[in-house]
Amino acid sequence: MPRPKKHVFVCNQSRPPGHPRGSCGKNGGTELLQAFWQELQKRNLYDVVAVTYSGCIGPCDSGPNVLVYPDGTLYSKVSPSDIAEIFDSHLLGDRPVERLLAPQEVWN
Ligand code: FES
Repeated sequence: MPRPKKHVFVCNQSRPPGHPRGSCGKNGGTELLQAFWQELQKRNLYDVVAVTYSGCIGPCDSGPNVLVYPDGTLYSKVSPSDIAEIFDSHLLGDRPVERLLAPQEVWN
């Protein structure tokens, strides 16, 4: 299989109702993952981009969160309507979508 240039991890962690950390699953992570896969299929970029579901990435209360490697870019509060821009700007153009970046404090 070809090595993808970008690997997109979409958090699909779920937690029980009322859990204090919340979860990306509760905030639309599953719908977001499905939308990423649809966009990947529509663009037929399987040799360039991989999209994989993941467990918890960290900042649960700002989900759904999306992590892109190899650069380690973390996006928060991503919605399906953001996906085309992520593909065009970041996954194909190597320019991360600034407005969706997780706050720098997440990494402290
Ligand atoms: S549940 Fe998605 S980052 Fe924790």
